[in-house]
Amino acid sequence: MCGIIGCAGRTDDTLDVLLSGLEGLEYRGYDSAGVALANGSLDVCKREGEIERLQRAVDDSLDGADESDAGGSDGGGHRGPVGIGHTRWSTHGPPTDANAHPHTDCTGDVAVVHNGIVENYEELKTELQARGHEFESDTDSEVVPHLVEERLADGASFEDAFRAAVGRLEGSYALAAVTADTEAMLAARSDSPLVVGVGDDAAYLASDVPAFLEYTDRVVYLEDGEFARLESGSWTVTDAEGRPLDKSVSRVEWDAEETAKSGYDHYMLKEIHEQPRALRKALRGRVDELAGSVEVASLAGLSPSSVQFVACGTSYHAALYGAQLLREEGIPAQAFLASEYATAPAPVDDDALVVGVTQSGETADTLSALREAHRRGVETLAMTNVVGSTATRECDRTLLIRAGPEIGVAATKTFSSQAVACNLLASTLTDREDAREVVGALRDLPGQVQELLDDSRAGQVADRFLDGAGYFFVGRGHHHPVALEGALKLKEITYKHAEGFPAGELKHGPLALVTDETPVFALVTGDREQATKTVGNVKEVEARGAPVVAVTDGVSDAGRYADEVLEIPETHPRVAPVLANVQLQLVAYHVADKLGRSIDKPRNLAKSVTVE
Ligand code: M6R
Repeated sequence: MCGIIGCAGRTDDTLDVLLSGLEGLEYRGYDSAGVALANGSLDVCKREGEIERLQRAVDDSLDGADESDAGGSDGGGHRGPVGIGHTRWSTHGPPTDANAHPHTDCTGDVAVVHNGIVENYEELKTELQARGHEFESDTDSEVVPHLVEERLADGASFEDAFRAAVGRLEGSYALAAVTADTEAMLAARSDSPLVVGVGDDAAYLASDVPAFLEYTDRVVYLEDGEFARLESGSWTVTDAEGRPLDKSVSRVEWDAEETAKSGYDHYMLKEIHEQPRALRKALRGRVDELAGSVEVASLAGLSPSSVQFVACGTSYHAALYGAQLLREEGIPAQAFLASEYATAPAPVDDDALVVGVTQSGETADTLSALREAHRRGVETLAMTNVVGSTATRECDRTLLIRAGPEIGVAATKTFSSQAVACNLLASTLTDREDAREVVGALRDLPGQVQELLDDSRAGQVADRFLDGAGYFFVGRGHHHPVALEGALKLKEITYKHAEGFPAGELKHGPLALVTDETPVFALVTGDREQATKTVGNVKEVEARGAPVVAVTDGVSDAGRYADEVLEIPETHPRVAPVLANVQLQLVAYHVADKLGRSIDKPRNLAKSVTVE
């Protein structure tokens, strides 16, 4: 939640770096944004709304500054060696100009951006107000610049003042601060991500790598309790007492092209189309097609007696699917919503495994569940997309899904890659009789997704059912998680009501809602017992006048009872849900597009949810 960008050392284009960094971070929050530049004086510009509004405000103030040849008080004179920026997802106070970051102190000389929640802010604010500090926002974050201000007034250096201010905070934070008269930017983290980018002449700071990937692929991940100082071409990391730490610089494999829209109207559509490539990457070097075997180095020696998955949202749906695969192999496995894990029974056996499925590796609920697993003494595995994320650093093992950067708030390619990773995990832990068939189906999957993308009728289906009063998604077994995921995707980006069920549950209540205005998407593949039963459910809704869309490989006669058919290629039953899901992603995308929704940044949401 909220995105932070900072840079030191780019004298000519600091503001451009900040604004384009904020665009790259908009998926983390987009209800207001702001920048501060330090260059002898401090210039702050911030606006409610998307970054475009901030950009316009900055342009206007620059025009004004050019005409008068002087810096304005609200964004004028934007040239400076050190700058910070922020894009906000509101927690304390509505999205307004005043609540947007950066926040400043009473003198206007200290500016701070914050991601996280200062839990003791009310107490600190009362204390500061009693000493005469005036506050301009409803945010918890604004206490920080005032705390820094007090120490500076006592004669402390910027670094000591910042360290002391941070020492007063309880809660979670990624912070960056600048003052008018210093050329350094200071940063600190606890439970919210921050990464330093190491350039040749400049240093960068961000909540996430894509914000500065254009300038450098060399990064230093900050850990909880660490402080960073960034100056023109140099950076240092220290502990809470100011002792220097020896941090290693890693290289990220993503390139800037992967974080651009590349001609697509939306990141979501681009990411849907990237699935064949992402799936190939997920499999590369990990499967032996001839032997039908799977070998993933990070899973070597793993042999848990039971597995618990913890995850949220789309990742939870992948976790449900993964738990099913393991149970089919005789391994007791369950998926838990991470936010509910505290009440879940602890695994009874010593050699259990808890798998955190998380695209970002930063979701607060999932991290909290993984920490609970640690407290319970259980081995943990992070199944994630982001190298160096908190989940990878805190878990005992990591299984990377290798989907590449996902910018759209709606998770698409990462679900498919998570599903493949679940198959890799299941195949590693067990010996299936049909292992070769599963590996063969996984190998064919990228090509089949491509085929589906080339021929999909999802756009026509979206056209026909645009006015639905509600949408239902049903499937059994492996298709149950995809029914849930299809509904989540549709509601998230179209703002239409949608629900997913196991097909058998329809008649136990939801059927009362089914009318000729509620399209029902039925996922049916193969012709086994489950498919036959789902076809029975399709007939039930059809008899009640509901339009039916069958997502099917055509093996059963589901299509005969459907108003529309979305075809998927035939494959192994384990792999079919991934293909079915791609059709549902496209339906959600096209409905949202035709309704003119904000597809990549749906209202009220953020890509990475770093608060519980
Ligand atoms: O980064 P994570 O996978 O941990 O995120 C979990 C959910 O917040 C995420 O999947 C969310 O549900 C998506 N926006 C759904 O498209």
